[in-house]
Amino acid sequence: MNKKFYITTPIYYPSAKPHMGHAYSSIIADFFARFKKIDGYDIHFLTGTDEHGLKIQKAAKDNNMDPQSFCDDISKTFMELSKILNLTNTDFIRTTEKRHKLSVQSLWSELERKEDIYLSKYSGWYSISDEAFYGENEIEEFDGIKRAIASKSTVEWMDEESYFFRLSKWEKPLLDYYEKNPDFIAPSSRRNEVISFVKSGLKDLSISRKSFSWGIKVPNDQDHVIYVWLDALTNYISALNYPNTKDELYKKFWPASLHLIGKDILRFHAIYWPAFLLAANLPLPRKIYSHGWILSGDEKMSKSRGNILDPLDIIDKYGLDPLRYYLIKEVSFGNDGNISQERLEDCINSDLANNFGNLCQRVVTFANKNCDNTIPVKDKFNKDDLIILNKFKLDLDIIRKKIDEQDINFYINYIVSRLFEANKYFNDQEPWKKKANPERLKTIVYTTLEVIRKICIMLFPVIPQTSLRALKIFDITEKEIDFSSLVDHDFLKCGKKINNIDILFKKIIREND
Ligand code: ME8
Ligand code: MG
Repeated sequence: MNKKFYITTPIYYPSAKPHMGHAYSSIIADFFARFKKIDGYDIHFLTGTDEHGLKIQKAAKDNNMDPQSFCDDISKTFMELSKILNLTNTDFIRTTEKRHKLSVQSLWSELERKEDIYLSKYSGWYSISDEAFYGENEIEEFDGIKRAIASKSTVEWMDEESYFFRLSKWEKPLLDYYEKNPDFIAPSSRRNEVISFVKSGLKDLSISRKSFSWGIKVPNDQDHVIYVWLDALTNYISALNYPNTKDELYKKFWPASLHLIGKDILRFHAIYWPAFLLAANLPLPRKIYSHGWILSGDEKMSKSRGNILDPLDIIDKYGLDPLRYYLIKEVSFGNDGNISQERLEDCINSDLANNFGNLCQRVVTFANKNCDNTIPVKDKFNKDDLIILNKFKLDLDIIRKKIDEQDINFYINYIVSRLFEANKYFNDQEPWKKKANPERLKTIVYTTLEVIRKICIMLFPVIPQTSLRALKIFDITEKEIDFSSLVDHDFLKCGKKINNIDILFKKIIREND
């Protein structure tokens, strides 16, 4: 009862159109949202765009546009991408929306009321590309240009009046919190990174800017705009109608179950965000998972580096589900991953076309010819049948646990193993040699169809469109997809007509093959 799951992606900068890195985070978030959905949870799934700050103001100026129209245009491309990626997000937030601005100003006022904000002067290094402050020890000089070591983005000296948040005050409470909640930051290597950074000492954080205007105004001081990260992080609660903590959405979904982010923005999420929340006396999110980078060559794929791979081109060429499958399977989740079209094509050919598509096609064709185009009436299952059927039932809770540990690679490899087994079972049982024993022939076909059904359900979070196409064999619709039904061995109705399906994946023919 009352199972709910609130998952977020970062809200992306609409400084240029989306690239594969953004698609990656969004697809992974969608995978979790869909899994939890079919496992009976109420889902809130938030994504959106982060539209204020100097980075955006500059990008707009470079394009001779006012920032608002610039954001309107590019935010639209992110919203369209969400549709193209077939995301099940339940909201899309833009930080230029009124609901968000009011929420950010309320949080500011709350922090002020708690005496966690004071006016002073900031002198130090700032990266516009990262919208981040860096200490002397975090920058290097390269070809005469100063840049941040972590992101390689150039930094400039900043010297201006600024409001500060008493971050230093939260050093100890944060460390205590990490200690008491060992799963708060994942994977654990990132947790260690954060802890050692906090242990090295937290300085108060500059949270307003005076030298430009594209942002949310500080309440009662029109000369300052709120630091874009304080603004952006608040999206996770502004979308739930904070400050109205009595609001149904807020009450139901805060604290978030999972903030999914890239490792580039770990510090903001694992230090600043929980500190703001602690200061405002609000509950902290349950988990922050920071995944690795999609690399292009050996470098992080990023707008600023101009080495991007356009997800739309890949989807045009191969279709969406192959891309989703490939990113989920071939990038070791949590680590950096190089992606290539060649490996994507390998995935399509071996896993999707051969292992999955062929199995479905082959069994349906066999049932058409030998079982009167229906789900055959089964006899008693024998030992071999029960082994392959029971596997899912026995592993149900392990799968759930692995999902809660964000072990995506376990999940997908589990499916691949089941596919191999199903193919092997059908081959080894040789139903085509069982014409003299129709009972046995029918039971083999029934068993294989049941296994196909179970695999399709497991594939739904990964390749939703194709999973639905395959489930059409049984007339199973999206609403009827239920992870718990993996325990049933006789879900399929004997005697029911089987629907033929088109080829699920076409093999890619390569010239050198
Ligand atoms: O940082 N590989 O926005 P952003 C994997 N607005 N993931 C990548 C990636 C790559 N090469 N490049 C980007 C911001 N991402 C802020 C966030 S949240 C309150 C504010 C993904 O447009 C990854 O999730 O730079 C990364 O953290 C995010 O996009 C950064 O997107
Ligand atoms: Mg970035």
